[in-house]
Amino acid sequence: LHNFSKVCEILDKFDRQPSKIIPILQAVQEEYRYLPEEIMTFVATSLGTSPARVFGIATFYSHFSLEPKGKYIIKVCDGTACHVKGSSGLVETIQRELNLSEKNHTTDDLLFTLETVSCLGACGLAPAVVINDKVYGQVSKQRMKELITEYKT
Ligand code: FES
Repeated sequence: LHNFSKVCEILDKFDRQPSKIIPILQAVQEEYRYLPEEIMTFVATSLGTSPARVFGIATFYSHFSLEPKGKYIIKVCDGTACHVKGSSGLVETIQRELNLSEKNHTTDDLLFTLETVSCLGACGLAPAVVINDKVYGQVSKQRMKELITEYKT
């Protein structure tokens, strides 16, 4: 069950202004790492707006996630430079190590989420991987396995 006191704090911070719906949802996502359905309904009721409107906004912006995400988001760059240097091999390594698949991007323990992105703007570091806000360059499959182990502990 979710802790509603956090949402109340967020709503108060934005004076429960319906016009602040986007920053409110951003703050909710930062807190929960995604937008849980019951929290969105709660936000809608608190702002005196319809849940449909809140869901509409949440699904419109790709920045918002309606699915739980891991504590660590691993972004593997699949832009041209990284692709040439073997980024798909890294994706396979991560999927194998974490028991993930094309459809299943987040580990059951909610520790990791795997995403692919197109060009991180660090092509000189290809293949590049970002884990949360930290950038790793020239990542080999071996290094990727080590990183996973480091983040697990
Ligand atoms: Fe990977 Fe640019 S293609 S950082």
